[in-house]
Parts: sequence; C-alpha cells; structure tokens
Amino acid sequence: MSTATAIAHPNIALAKYWGKRAGEGNRPAVPSLSVTLEGMSTRTQVTFDAALGADEVRVNDALLEGEGAVRAIALLDRVRARRGEARRARVVSTNDFPTASGLASSASGFAALAFAASAAAGLDLGASALSDLARRSSASAARSILGGFVELAAGGEDPNAELAAHVVAPPEHMDLAVLVAVTHEGPKAVGSTDGMTLTRTKSPYFAVWIDAAPRIFAELRGALLARDFAKTGELAEASALAMHASAIAAGVVYWTAATLDVIHAVRALRAAGEAAYFTIDAGPHVKVLVPGARAEQVRAKLAEVRGVLAVRVTRPGGGARLA
Ligand code: DP6
Repeated sequence: MSTATAIAHPNIALAKYWGKRAGEGNRPAVPSLSVTLEGMSTRTQVTFDAALGADEVRVNDALLEGEGAVRAIALLDRVRARRGEARRARVVSTNDFPTASGLASSASGFAALAFAASAAAGLDLGASALSDLARRSSASAARSILGGFVELAAGGEDPNAELAAHVVAPPEHMDLAVLVAVTHEGPKAVGSTDGMTLTRTKSPYFAVWIDAAPRIFAELRGALLARDFAKTGELAEASALAMHASAIAAGVVYWTAATLDVIHAVRALRAAGEAAYFTIDAGPHVKVLVPGARAEQVRAKLAEVRGVLAVRVTRPGGGARLA
C-alpha cells in the first residue's frame, strides 16, 4: 500500500471564472483572480491498495456516488496513467467547515485530492503541475493549490497544454477580511458546472460577459497590486454582477430574497462610510470584503439582516500542503 494525506483551503474569486471553452480539458473561457482562505480546510487521504477491486471515495463519512464519484475517479485515473499505477485507491476526505457554510468544497476538495493522490502514487509534482492536475477536475481548485491572492488565466486552443494558477501576492498583501453571510442551508439547486453550460448555451449575454470579464480581471489585478481597497472591492462587485447577469438571462438564478437584502445592506453600509463590498458565487450566500480591522463591526451588522442565518469571518491564508 502507498498512502499520502494533503490539506487544502477554499478560495473566493474576486474576478470570477464563469464559462469554459468548448471541448475537452476543462479550460476556463476567462481569467480569474481569487483569495485563498485560512481557517477552513479539507483533509484528504489517498491510499493505493492492491487489495481493492474498485476506487472507493468517502467524503465526510459518506460513500460518494454518481457524478461526484466519477469526477474524483477521473482524477485518480490521470494520476495512475502518469505513473503506470494499476492499483485502485481508497480516498477519505473530510471538510472541517459545514457543507451549508456557503463555501464551495469542490475547490479545496479537488486541490487536496490532486496533492494527496499524486504524492501517494510517488509523483513529486511542483505547484504548477499540481495546479494543472486539480484544474482538470474543477478549475477553481487550481487556485486553492496556492496561498494568498492567486490568478488563473483563460485556457488556450490546446486542451492538453498545461494551465496552472499562479500567485499574484502573498496573504498579507492586503489587510482583508471576507465575511460569509450564510442565507440558506442545504445544497444549491444548480451546480456551477451545469450553471456554466446553461449560461453558454442559453444566455444572450454570455458573449458580453466573455468580452467584459478579462477587462474586469486586469483592472482588479492592477487595483489589488496597488493596494487600492475601494477599487478592488468595486471591481469584485462588478465581476460578480456581470457573471450573475449573464447566468440570470439563461434562467440560472442563484439569488434569493435574502441575497438581495444583503446586497442592499452592504450598499447602505458603504453609503454610511464603511468600505464593504460584496461578491456572490453559484449560490445564494453573499461574501463581504472589508478591511481586517472592521471585520467584527460589519459582521454584527450583517448578522441583523433578514434571512441571514450565520456570518463566518475568514481571512487570506496559505496554499495546499502535505499533512
Ligand atoms: C462561481 O470551479 O466549481 O465559484 O470547473 O466546472 O468545477 P468547474 O467549476 P467551479 O466553478 C467556480 C465558479 C465560481 C467562480 C470562481 O470560483 O471563480
């Protein structure tokens, strides 16, 4: 038997990845920029075992079936092919944050799986090769391999070419807290992969989003490097709004009444002088960006908004590692 364990953290995109290039290889159609978060983590152990007849994947003590298992096994297959490994694997993965926390577990999940599976197979991959491996399963996972502020370019013509995330700035570059306003318990109705496909095939605004996203990304990257908090926040809002506008036009509506109430509360806070900006992923929760020193005050205000079940305070953190 050969075994390895890895730990990875979720990330939140400030400039969103939404939409893929047609064809193989899970290549994003737009560049994205995210911040990896500390505190919450996914811990994944992979064991290649000659006694196993099939791969066995457990997440939070439940045996994974259906699409989730197919995606995890596809990653194991890529690792096996690279190494000439024939043994099946036992995967045991746990998230130390609740699945209804408003934070996607696929980014940290596939980052930890890519790291642990390659190490268990005896592959010593560098950060870029690991990020590329994770990206082929879930593009946001490519960014969770790295810590701090991380970018992932859009994919090119060749589905086999390496496409990895890179560090833009370390976690301490900007004094930032990300407040996660949880507005709903339970899984989302449309996963991001399906939401992207619907947007690409049905939204009259998809082309507009594809055109706008690289500009928003480039401006946001510049504002972040200049440590311009207000401009970074404004552009993060613009990215999320443009992404959701394109999805909504395809009938993919992730927002609920509570989502809108938090959006309006953040704008009211801003009108009152607070440097607070929102971003929203493929779900109804709202993530609010504030300077680190204002985290507690703004958390208390968000907790009072109708429909908000809980508010988690997170901060920029490090990348994935072996345990
Ligand atoms: C809204 O990385 O989950 O969170 O590549 O199909 O697995 P797949 O999609 P995924 O999409 C994330 C979408 C997003 C924005 C982002 O994280 O950039």
